[in-house]
Amino acid sequence: MKAAELRKKFIDFFVSKNHVEIKSAPLIPDNDPTVLFTMAGMHPLVPFLLGAPHPAGKRLVDFQKCIRTGDIEEVGDKVHLTFFEMLGNWSIGDYFKKEAIEYSFEFLTSKEWLGLDLDKLAFTVFAGNEHAPFDEEAYNTWISLGVSPNKIAKLEANWWGPAGVTGPCGPDTEMFYWTGSEPTPEVFDPENPLWVEIWNDVLMQYNKNEKGELEKLAHPNVDTGMGFERVVAVLNGFDSCYDTELFVPLFEALDKFRGIETPSERTREERIIIDHVRAATFIMAEGITPGNKDQQYQLRRIVRRMLGEGHKLNLASGFALPVAEKVIEMYQGYYPELAKNKELILSAFALEEKDFSKTLVRGVQMFEKAIQDEKNVQNGVLSGLVVFDLAQTFGFPKEMAVLMAEEKGLSVNLKEFDEAFKHHQDISRGASAPCGLADKKEETTALHTATHLLHQALRTVLGTHVEQRGSHITAERLRFDFSHHEKVSPDDLKKVEDLVNEVIQKDMPVLCEEMTLDEALQKGAIGLFANKYGEKVTVYSMGDFSKEVCAGPHVTNTGVLKSFHIMKEESSSKGVRRIKATVGFVKNNA
Ligand code: ALA
Repeated sequence: MKAAELRKKFIDFFVSKNHVEIKSAPLIPDNDPTVLFTMAGMHPLVPFLLGAPHPAGKRLVDFQKCIRTGDIEEVGDKVHLTFFEMLGNWSIGDYFKKEAIEYSFEFLTSKEWLGLDLDKLAFTVFAGNEHAPFDEEAYNTWISLGVSPNKIAKLEANWWGPAGVTGPCGPDTEMFYWTGSEPTPEVFDPENPLWVEIWNDVLMQYNKNEKGELEKLAHPNVDTGMGFERVVAVLNGFDSCYDTELFVPLFEALDKFRGIETPSERTREERIIIDHVRAATFIMAEGITPGNKDQQYQLRRIVRRMLGEGHKLNLASGFALPVAEKVIEMYQGYYPELAKNKELILSAFALEEKDFSKTLVRGVQMFEKAIQDEKNVQNGVLSGLVVFDLAQTFGFPKEMAVLMAEEKGLSVNLKEFDEAFKHHQDISRGASAPCGLADKKEETTALHTATHLLHQALRTVLGTHVEQRGSHITAERLRFDFSHHEKVSPDDLKKVEDLVNEVIQKDMPVLCEEMTLDEALQKGAIGLFANKYGEKVTVYSMGDFSKEVCAGPHVTNTGVLKSFHIMKEESSSKGVRRIKATVGFVKNNA
């Protein structure tokens, strides 16, 4: 089935069920400040899901352009995409669970519509947890339609949203299609990747409020999303979106630019380039150009990652342009903003490419400097932490660092890199009390501020490989664990102590600002965080000395601490050192 045909069938089916077709909303959300980009068809509809009447009525259908940057590292495999379209039908306080599931079933299986073999379909429903019960009605509805119990999995993960902190949410029920060449297994195993998720019906009953509690919505809603590119792939017997008519012409545009007549199998680099040019083209079509804040920064990340891949393939400058032109040509019929902003899009790509080559030059310089430092290179092996740091701080691609190291006859400790990366992700996901604060008394607040100063001073004196690995504060002292490979010499400890004392003497103001995590990282903030990239975080700055993502609290000025004293330096675990210290404020109050 052709992509255009699937798109039309979906709309026609729901129009035949009294839905009204609405237009795709912009990628930059008007209605939902909790996300940077429209990530699903429901984002533009949030106010209506929460109770406002929609001018087009209670039954809606559309295709919606979406951007997801959360999984950007995964892009390059067969299924992850940064830009995609979502086909969706909505009930805004009209029909609910039973009808929603019946419509999905009819569209998927009826000969008049997709006519998929029921045997190749499987389903998941919400298993229940301490917040909400097992979705028995969803389960029973699938059974009543003739689905075998073997093909329904009950999962706790079947819960949608909210993407931001607050917003509408509820249990969902997903539909999967068997893509294996062997016969469909008797029993559905959702972990088997040959079962591909094609559609999700969210049965939206709650709003998550600022306190994190689930409130019942004024009226329940249905929000469904079918991944367009994925379904086109599945319906045409492909296991990768990149093999479909939605991507092949883009690869061909790149081949033509490179003068390749008979391409061999597509590489990961090529897939990233194609995906990222496509996503960037759609973002730029809304008048956004690469920059340092919010959506502009996300766009810059996408474009630079794409340029980095081009660099690896030795592509001549301007390689993105023919691909972008092809994207515009293919989609302008559905999205007129593409053709309207064509000039802007093409010049934005060209400009960013110029800027990025400057960044690469800077990255190369930092790399050269880093390998001069003997701390960083031992027995011909370059520390993975250094490479991680270059990537984090300068956006210098890991792959380039590895290549450059090889040219110098060095290898890179990739295990260390992976560990740093994983650790960084784990703390990003897991930390709940980001600063290890035991309570909020004045002493602990002062010691907390001192912890930030110590962290920065260690990085200044020992190097930027120093990262927080743990922190604990009592009313008497702070304890700070950090990555470092050897005992800190008495000289260096003295330097660290002096540096912190200097900052205390200068009585620097402690400022607290809110910004997105991306902005925070862009501004060089360090620290542990439990947030996703688009989310707002608090950043504490101590003059121009330290900047950390942290939940607070802190003293108002560094002078409050009076003085800083390191009590002990010892080993904590392999590659991790521990410092215990205190401040004059605590001693004076004791
Ligand atoms: N909002 C739901 C999703 O994106 C349909 O999966």
